[in-house]
Amino acid sequence: MSITEVSVEATPSFAVGVSEVDRVLGGGLVPGGVTLLGGEPGIGKSTLLLQVAAGVASGGRRVLYVTAEESAAQVRLRAERLGAVVEGLWVVAETSVSRVIELLDEVNPDLVVVDSVQALVAPELGSAPGSVAQVRECAFRLVTEARSRQMATVLVGHVTKDGSLAGPRVLEHVVDTVLSFEGDRHGGLRLLRASKHRFGSTAEVGVFEMREQGLRMVPDPSGMFLADRRPGVSGSVVAAVLEGRRPLLVEVQALVGASNSPSPRRTAQGLDTGRLALLLAVLERRVKLGQLGSSDVHTLAVGGVRLGEPGADLAVALAVASALSDVPVPPHVVVFGEVGLTGEVRQVGRADERIAEAHRLGFTTVVGPAGTGTPVGTLAEAMDILGLH
Ligand code: TYD
Ligand code: MG
Repeated sequence: MSITEVSVEATPSFAVGVSEVDRVLGGGLVPGGVTLLGGEPGIGKSTLLLQVAAGVASGGRRVLYVTAEESAAQVRLRAERLGAVVEGLWVVAETSVSRVIELLDEVNPDLVVVDSVQALVAPELGSAPGSVAQVRECAFRLVTEARSRQMATVLVGHVTKDGSLAGPRVLEHVVDTVLSFEGDRHGGLRLLRASKHRFGSTAEVGVFEMREQGLRMVPDPSGMFLADRRPGVSGSVVAAVLEGRRPLLVEVQALVGASNSPSPRRTAQGLDTGRLALLLAVLERRVKLGQLGSSDVHTLAVGGVRLGEPGADLAVALAVASALSDVPVPPHVVVFGEVGLTGEVRQVGRADERIAEAHRLGFTTVVGPAGTGTPVGTLAEAMDILGLH
């Protein structure tokens, strides 16, 4: 076919009814599309997918939930807690991929969820469940069925500690969408991201909180992160950062104290330790805070978030300066900006959205690079404006 004749009709998708999931998927699931949901054991994949399955079934579509790890009774019990006992949601406890495929004829679902692909087996293959050969074969058969039946499919894949999808890593290229579900297992916060998405953008992030009754959506994460903040205390700065495409306000805290060790302690929770070392060096050499060299410095991003972008630099540096001087940053101030090695404050992406998020939550002063309400050229200038001496 000539490329001029190729049709460009948009792929139709259907909403799953869990809005944070629909946000990440850019509208919903696509008939015939295959999604891999990865995450560490215990993070909440089964919980999320049961909520998704119930959402899709409530919308009048047929859903088959294949549980290869738990019994159907366990799934029912969980569903009761989640309010996911709905018509149109079919459950089967089955580990044989051939049997699952036979069932597809019987149930004729619009969506099939397989939890997990590592627990599924193609018995005739002979190798052990969870082996790369098994995982690949099972997934391949399910992908073929998904395509030919125009049936949306979600596969669960457990991820090992080092972050690789054990076995399922080999699946990333066969599926259309790869989602990862992450968070601090002790805290309640969970983030859903897409690392590959054939039908849309990978920039959206879904935010959830794990509760007794399952995963609750957090449509206003900034509000949640700031809920327990104590304004007027030194060592605390609110940063406007980006999670995916989404602007978020997060509190950064620092605690500084004289060290009695020749090699002072430096800790960074939710922040990059290398980045912290760089910012401390800038504070020491460019802003002349010489006493930092012999101080213990502890830093923290509140709420279990991980700040992986340079836009948080200015907040981290100012939190340390505020802790060191014991001068609080005024409560109505939000900061953002990258800090360079000469102490300059640099521009970062989506400044307008960060500023809008700050104003939405009632912050009146935004300190950052050119374009913010209170622009600063250097870290020292930001400290002067905020009186952190
Ligand atoms: P689960 O969905 O089983 O994780 P995964 O499928 O990724 O292995 O859920 C894991 C944890 O979530 C489990 O230890 C208990 C907790 N949980 C809640 O706190 N509230 C709930 O409503 C549910 C269903 C689970
Ligand atoms: Mg599970």
